[in-house]
Amino acid sequence: MAATVINGKEIAKKVKDNLKNDVQILKDKGVKPCLVVVIVGDDPASRVYVNNKKKACEEVGIKSIEHAFGAELKEEELLQLIDKLNNDSSVNGILVQLPLPKHINEEKIIMAIKPEKDVDAFHPINVGKIMTGNPDFMPCTPAGVMKLIEETGIDIAGKECVVVGRSNIVGKPQAMLLLAKNGTVTICHSRTKNLEEVCKRADILVVAVGKPELIKGSAIKPGAVVIDVGTNRTEAKKLVGDVEFSSASEVASYITPVPGGVGPMTIAILMENTVKAAKLQSVK
Ligand code: GUN
Repeated sequence: MAATVINGKEIAKKVKDNLKNDVQILKDKGVKPCLVVVIVGDDPASRVYVNNKKKACEEVGIKSIEHAFGAELKEEELLQLIDKLNNDSSVNGILVQLPLPKHINEEKIIMAIKPEKDVDAFHPINVGKIMTGNPDFMPCTPAGVMKLIEETGIDIAGKECVVVGRSNIVGKPQAMLLLAKNGTVTICHSRTKNLEEVCKRADILVVAVGKPELIKGSAIKPGAVVIDVGTNRTEAKKLVGDVEFSSASEVASYITPVPGGVGPMTIAILMENTVKAAKLQSVK
C-alpha cells in the first residue's frame, strides 16, 4: 500500500498562521520583530533559500533586512557587520546563510553572532543548550522534522530512529531531538558499514546527506516513517531528495515529498525562533 504523503507546506502554514497572532501582540507592546539575513556570493540555492526566508517574514509580519555581498567580501568586513548588528537593539535575529566562500571561516562567523540573536541555533552556546535540554532556539531543520513526525501521531518513545548524515546543521542536532523524545537513536554516515541493513531497522528514518536518491525502498522497513531532508538538483534540473520517492513510498507508512516536505518547515521554525528572540530581548 502506498504511504501517506506528509504535507510540509500545509503544516508550515499552520505554524506561521499561529505566529501572526504572537507578532501582533508584540507589536501592540511596541516590539517589532526584525530578522537580518546575510548572503555572500551567488550560490543559486542560497539565493532561493534567502528569498523564501524573506517571504516568510513578510507573511508572519516580521521585518526582514537583507545584506547581500559578492563572493570577494573579506572575513573582517563580515565580522564588522556582525558586530554592528549584535549591538543594534532593533535587530532581533541574525542569520548568515551558509555555505560561505572558502576564504571565510564559517566557525569564526558563527562564533561572532551573539547567542541571543543566533536564530539558526548554530553558536556553540545554543548547540550546548540543545544537548542539555531547554534550548532558547530550536535547530530549524531538525525541529521542523520533529513537527512533521508529530503530525503522524506516532509516539517516538522506544522507537528505532535512524538518522543518515552527521552534519552540524541537521544530523547531529536531529539525533539529540529524537533522543530527547526517548527514541533509540543510531547515526549513520559515509563510513557506516551495511547502511541498508541499519536503515532497515528504523521505525523512523531521517535522511540528510545531500546524495540524490541514495536510499531506496529496499532499505526501508515496511510501515516506517521516512523523512527526507535532501534537496538535490538532477542534471535534468529536477529537484529530488536523498530518498528514492517512488520505491520508498511503496514501503513506508508516511513519507515527506521533495519539494514541499522539510524545506518549508525549516523556514517556519526560523520564524518561531525570530519571534522568540524578539520576546526574550524585550523582557531584558
Ligand atoms: N544553509 C543550509 N541550511 C541552512 C540553514 O538552516 N541556515 C543557514 N544559515 N544556512 C543554511
